Amino acid sequence: MSHIPHRSHWNSRWTFMLATAGSAIGLGNIWKLPYMIGVNGGSAFVLVFVISIFLVGIPLMMTEILLGRRAQKNPLDGIQTLAIEAKKSSLWRYLGGMGMLTGLLILGFYSVIGGWVLAYISEAVSGSFSQITALQSTANFDALLASPFKLLFWHTVFILMTMSVVAHGVNSGLEKANNILIPALFAILLVLLGYSMSEGDMQTAFQFMFKPDFSKITPVSVLSALGHAFFSLSLGMGAVMVYGSYLQRNVSIARTTIYIALADTLLGLLVGLAIYSLVFANHLAPNAGPGLIFQTLPIAFGHMPGGNIIGVLFFLLVAFAAWTSSISLVEPTIAWIVENTKIKRHAAALILGVAVWLLGVAVALSFNEWKDIKIVFNLNIFETLDKLTSTVLLPLGGLLMAIFAGYFMNKNHVQEELNLNDQAFKLWRIANNYIAPIAIAAVFLYLFGLIK
Ligand code: PHE
Repeated sequence: MSHIPHRSHWNSRWTFMLATAGSAIGLGNIWKLPYMIGVNGGSAFVLVFVISIFLVGIPLMMTEILLGRRAQKNPLDGIQTLAIEAKKSSLWRYLGGMGMLTGLLILGFYSVIGGWVLAYISEAVSGSFSQITALQSTANFDALLASPFKLLFWHTVFILMTMSVVAHGVNSGLEKANNILIPALFAILLVLLGYSMSEGDMQTAFQFMFKPDFSKITPVSVLSALGHAFFSLSLGMGAVMVYGSYLQRNVSIARTTIYIALADTLLGLLVGLAIYSLVFANHLAPNAGPGLIFQTLPIAFGHMPGGNIIGVLFFLLVAFAAWTSSISLVEPTIAWIVENTKIKRHAAALILGVAVWLLGVAVALSFNEWKDIKIVFNLNIFETLDKLTSTVLLPLGGLLMAIFAGYFMNKNHVQEELNLNDQAFKLWRIANNYIAPIAIAAVFLYLFGLIK
């Protein structure tokens, strides 16, 4: 194993927070959460999602940051180092390896959806949303999906964007992108929300999302909500761990985590409200699936004053949010390559870029030419990757990290990193050692039919 004499660190706590928030806030909030709420019956899903964020997401985000900061390495070597420090089997390193692979699998479809967003920037710029009807908007989106050429073109652009930032490394690449863009995203979202309040059907949207209806809770929706909590907070695959490894020692992990989780959750729910008030006002189907935001938001932009410009800005910011997340999907693997081989950052970014691009080609084709190719459980290539990562690999990664930090690491070392008062430390331990593992394991066991 090579030794790194100097390891880059974030310039301040604020940049770490923005970078981690940048990783967390992405397509998961703006594209995925809204449509999952619709597909999984509205408020029941929202409720389980929010509970998962607080009971499982926040404690496990703290766990992941502490693992990273203590190890000061990429996830694979990092977990190995911590295992050795605790005199436990170094096989634990494969947990880091699994996370790295998970990140690349996610990027395989993330970059295709990121491509949709880029395509919509160009649509918005050309003014094609102007006075658009719900029907036209849906047809527009279907036309994009039906064109392998367009999907591949924008997917390629998205991969190039991601890899060019990653190639530059932590300080010059990752930090700069986040500092302005995340605050700007919040600002534009407020404009959108204002429009939805005045023109949409906010009341119905609010009821749909927040009026508790326990009858709609099913095992599958619970798993999806839990899985999405992981996806949305970027947990379970080492992204947060590797960002934590660039974090200075004197920063409070707990406080930072809470801010990030709140920002992430709030943003997703606000986008959801904005979208559903448009959905209901325009009599669209809430369960439209992955195309939801692309079908609904152009209607708003097409009719609001200044909508042309706001539409362009919105999709630009979504693209940035997706960009800052996609960076964190490859960073664990890049860090591993750079810290273990003679390959330079640039070359590593190129190699991974090509690999993920190829995976993305298969995903893009699964929306048209390869639509009927089913991998498992009647799921096509895109759906398989999405389900495999969000509902299996991320929760499994999180479960194992919780077990590792809670039962294998030395308690004093953990406390040294978290640096909490006794009571708060106890709370974290209850969540990390009991609540999170039991919740995740129970959902898995239920799905495998082992408990009823
Ligand atoms: N959290 C990101 C989003 O919501 C996606 C992501 C998942 C990023 C896992 C990194 C790791 O878009």
